[in-house]
Amino acid sequence: MISTRLHPDKQSAAQAIAREMADLIRLRSESGKATVLGLATGSTPLPLYAELIRLHREEGLSFRSVVTFNLDEYEGLAPAHPQSYRFFMEANLFRHLDIPAANIHVPDGLAADADGHCAAYERAIRAAGGIDLQILGIGRTGHIGFNEPPSPADSRTRRVHLDEVTRQDNSVFFGDVAQVPHGALTMGVATILEARRVALLAFGSAKAAIVARAVKETPSADCPATWLQRHPDCVFHLDAAAAERL
Ligand code: PGA
Repeated sequence: MISTRLHPDKQSAAQAIAREMADLIRLRSESGKATVLGLATGSTPLPLYAELIRLHREEGLSFRSVVTFNLDEYEGLAPAHPQSYRFFMEANLFRHLDIPAANIHVPDGLAADADGHCAAYERAIRAAGGIDLQILGIGRTGHIGFNEPPSPADSRTRRVHLDEVTRQDNSVFFGDVAQVPHGALTMGVATILEARRVALLAFGSAKAAIVARAVKETPSADCPATWLQRHPDCVFHLDAAAAERL
């Protein structure tokens, strides 16, 4: 089931979700347990990551007991490539925290055996105990992670072909659409649905139409975010513009 939570602006949303994450991390670490977070890239989670860094610096929130799995990575980009998601995560979050490097997982866009790498990624999530809280954005195609339409509910971590709409949207980071890779590795829909809690963030009017589809349409591979309706604890954190068609 998808529930929606309206926030005055994206900063307020970031504060609320960061607080939820901090509470989870503290609660679990008090009983000696790790917290497994599923993380996303793109513009949307940036205020959230800034707030997590602030909580670490100013309120002593430690990430030593946190294990992370990122949703996806472009195929063919090295970790040091400025547009790789590994680079994005290091620059915008990890290098500012006390998270042990061994606890960080991002799919390897250069994996020689991509299928084997994806299968190992699934095993690593399971070995960590599964994802406690998954952060998601949503693309205008209805993708979650890089699960472009059509992505079935039982899809797992795998190689995918990026939709041209997505390549256009993401070209702002590359400067030129020709530079945007055509392929990626992404967690599957089933992988995402297994997370115990899901928080999807969407802000601005450009997301209003796809947010409405995700919430209202009958779940199908044609709009992969609709599969979230089958999740028992999925919250869409929205501003008024993103919620205007609900
Ligand atoms: P954005 O991307 O945060 O840059 O809008 C979201 C997504 O494609 O999942």
